[in-house]
Amino acid sequence: MSCSLRPVGRGQRAPLERLTAATGLFRPDEVAIAVSLLDDALAGDEDYRFLGAYAGDELVGYACWGPTPGTEGTFDLYWIVVDPAWQGKQVGTHLLRAVEDKLVSENARLIVVETSSRAEYTPTRAFYERRGYAAAARLPGYYAPGDDLVIYLKDLTHGVLATATA
Ligand SMILES: CC(C)(COP(=O)(O)OP(=O)(O)OC[C@H]1O[C@@H](n2cnc3c(N)ncnc32)[C@H](O)[C@@H]1OP(=O)(O)O)[C@@H](O)C(=O)NCCC(=O)NCCS
Repeated sequence: MSCSLRPVGRGQRAPLERLTAATGLFRPDEVAIAVSLLDDALAGDEDYRFLGAYAGDELVGYACWGPTPGTEGTFDLYWIVVDPAWQGKQVGTHLLRAVEDKLVSENARLIVVETSSRAEYTPTRAFYERRGYAAAARLPGYYAPGDDLVIYLKDLTHGVLATATA
């Protein structure tokens, strides 16, 4: 069954909270952050943009992104989450491509994704890596002892990473 991509409205607040928690990857305070970013976006804050993936009327995944403060054309992908029952069915790929297409059309340069080095995130890191995201930096012990921050970059202009110096 395929999904369609549409904005995330107020009526999806509870489903968004439920599906984020259902992944089992995020602590309750992290789930609360995703919901509060949706609240900000619904209140008109353009720093946080949401796109939902729907099976019929049911929200089965979403992405949240926004411009990285203090940069020119750099955007953070803050969240991309797919309901566990829908993972592995291309929903995340559709969402990621749609976000990238929107950003390319706005002349964005870079997409930054922060994730964890923990084993539970191995499929997540593979998801990004196979879609052109390069692990550009790693901060050891950032989240917790033994839990590094891994920063991925996707270069939408095919320029900056090619010319970056180590
Ligand atoms: C990472 C995530 C967004 C990918 O979305 P998805 O719809 O499951 O992925 P797709 O079906 O589009 O693509 C499948 C690919 O993702 C990878 N993948 C990552 N997590 C997966 C999962 N739980 N189940 C199946 N595939 C997964 C597969 O290895 C597969 O790789 P390939 O196509 O390159 O061989 C989704 O699995 C998810 O929500 N995971 C938990 C939350 C998370 O880690 N979010 C990112 C940090 S905010």
